[in-house]
Amino acid sequence: MSVHKEIRKVTTLTLQKMKAAGEKIAMLTAYDFSFAGIFDTAGIDIILVGDSASNVMAGHETTLPITLDQMIYHAQSVVRGIDRCLVVVDMPFGSYQGNSEIALASAIRIMKETGGHSIKLEGGAEVVDSIRKIVGAGIPVMGHLGLTPQSIYKFGTYTVRAKEEDEADKLRSDALLLQEAGCFGIVLEKIPAALAKTVSEGLEIPTIGIGAGPDCDGQVLVMHDMLGINTEFKPRFLRQYLNLNEQITTAVKHYITDVKSRDFPNAQEQY
Ligand code: KIV
Repeated sequence: MSVHKEIRKVTTLTLQKMKAAGEKIAMLTAYDFSFAGIFDTAGIDIILVGDSASNVMAGHETTLPITLDQMIYHAQSVVRGIDRCLVVVDMPFGSYQGNSEIALASAIRIMKETGGHSIKLEGGAEVVDSIRKIVGAGIPVMGHLGLTPQSIYKFGTYTVRAKEEDEADKLRSDALLLQEAGCFGIVLEKIPAALAKTVSEGLEIPTIGIGAGPDCDGQVLVMHDMLGINTEFKPRFLRQYLNLNEQITTAVKHYITDVKSRDFPNAQEQY
């Protein structure tokens, strides 16, 4: 008798089949047990434990400061919260750029210590040796092209990437290279929709877009942005589904009033 629950899990093969069938893939970031559980129960296909945790969880200006240990902590919490979705864990800045041995060692730590199902790293030709090595060890890898926030100091701004033909050419050839190296999918961040469409149509593996138009095989958003926890970050590509910041502020103010006025706790809310 199996000790495992009979739950249909999302795997990299599922994503491949979804692309083939024209079914869009829904991905969100999450960084903790509670939100991961809610998203999984709601039916999300992929949870990305993004290094955007550096911004939205730790309050850093960029994704650069977050460490491998901190990413592992977030990923462990997420994995404990889910039953069925695929968990992708971002490799943080500095954990793979050195060489492919360092990259493999970091990827192995993530897989061994978190129970996550795959890793994601940023870049094209520059990181392809590392991708081959990690895939060769049996670890599913998701690529990330276009705006790659770990290179923000090289780019200088968070504006749309690959608008010029030379950068678009590199992106197209990087996407093919990542596919050949064995990536099971590629995030396309903040690139023109027309370019994302041709890249997506030219690949067998799924693309997941963020600010890359409707023709990617799936979409990803940062949970704090789409739930309206962040109020200052309002790029054109973002659809905000809730205004949690406002709702939480109202609830907290209500609580403060109730405590100060001695309304809380009442006779039923005590032992
Ligand atoms: O870290 C992150 O949240 C990401 C998404 C923006 C794709 O990489």
